[in-house]
Amino acid sequence: MNGLILLTGGAGYIGSHTAHALQQAGYQVLILDAFVHRQAYGKPSLATVIKGNLGNRTLLDNIFQRYPITAVMHFAGLIEVGESVKHPDAFYRNNVVYTLGLLDVMRAHGVKKFIFSSTCALYGNPHYMLMDEKHPLLPQSPYGNTKLAVELALQDYARAYDLAYVALRYFNAAGALPDHGLGECHQPETHVIPLLLRAAAQRAPFTVHGTDYDTPDGTCVRDYIHVYDIARAHLLALQYLESGQPSDVFNLGTGSGFSVRQLIDKAQEVCGIPIVVQEKDRRPGDVATLIADARKAATILHWQPEHSALDTILKSAWRWEMRMAKYHNDVKQEKFAA
Ligand SMILES: NC(=O)c1ccc[n+]([C@@H]2O[C@H](COP(=O)([O-])OP(=O)(O)OC[C@H]3O[C@@H](n4cnc5c(N)ncnc54)[C@H](O)[C@@H]3O)[C@@H](O)[C@H]2O)c1
Repeated sequence: MNGLILLTGGAGYIGSHTAHALQQAGYQVLILDAFVHRQAYGKPSLATVIKGNLGNRTLLDNIFQRYPITAVMHFAGLIEVGESVKHPDAFYRNNVVYTLGLLDVMRAHGVKKFIFSSTCALYGNPHYMLMDEKHPLLPQSPYGNTKLAVELALQDYARAYDLAYVALRYFNAAGALPDHGLGECHQPETHVIPLLLRAAAQRAPFTVHGTDYDTPDGTCVRDYIHVYDIARAHLLALQYLESGQPSDVFNLGTGSGFSVRQLIDKAQEVCGIPIVVQEKDRRPGDVATLIADARKAATILHWQPEHSALDTILKSAWRWEMRMAKYHNDVKQEKFAA
């Protein structure tokens, strides 16, 4: 019998897809989520969902007392980089203080396996490409700093308290599992693929920030990784820890990059709708190119991206956007009829 896994933030984008992957592999899933995006969907149907805040220590204690949790996957956190510049206090509290509280409660209840949602934002400006796990860690935002703070704490806790952890540094999560009612719905949405597809659906202009980067077509290049490939990596990381392997960090990316202009071209093809583009200046903090060297995850976790062809990502994300548009329309009509 597989164990019971606690997913903090499991009603969010990556957490909900991971809950689905875990359930398919026979694990039981318990979700603790504060629903900061006020999601009305995105919950895997078979998971037990507790609506609550990670900062509530009594709640955490009760959860660990009541449920025989065997490992924790920690997705919960504030994610919007721009907001982290304006409100670093909220980010340090939510992403660092609450995470340390979670680790304390795990320790008190003897739960020793931890998988952490880290990010390529840890690397800052690239010193070389492709970026492997040995790349210097110089985050450029409070968001990135909070993730680095947790990774440093994990190293120290692992040494002192017999904690076994895996930190997964995601590059750009994208795509969806629309047939399972799962997809991306951040509020506000700042990720390029949903913004691009919504612009197409609404026949609204899509803004490209910066066209003079040192890249083949002047726009930023990123490594897009399907959210279900990220979910599968969590399963492999869990099995890695369950087999007694040591704590480690892994990049999750494809090793290939696409520019914003390439995304636009492909999105037009997938949606069959011409996208109106408006060009604006660069945004502070955006770097030209970010592409993962993910060979370590391939070698040690035996993980390979299987769903991350750009076409597959965009088609799944487009179907999800269509589903969401229908959902919002139905809700509006129900309200109108009531
Ligand atoms: N999306 C990406 O491309 C990406 C890239 C790198 C790293 N990450 C990291 O992966 C994790 C998941 O990202 P996501 O895109 O699924 O974000 P998301 O916002 O969809 O999911 C995060 C979830 O955490 C919950 N949450 C936040 N604070 C909480 C709290 N105090 N108590 C309980 N629940 C709380 C939210 O309600 C939300 O459902 C985050 O930690 C993020 O920093 C995401």
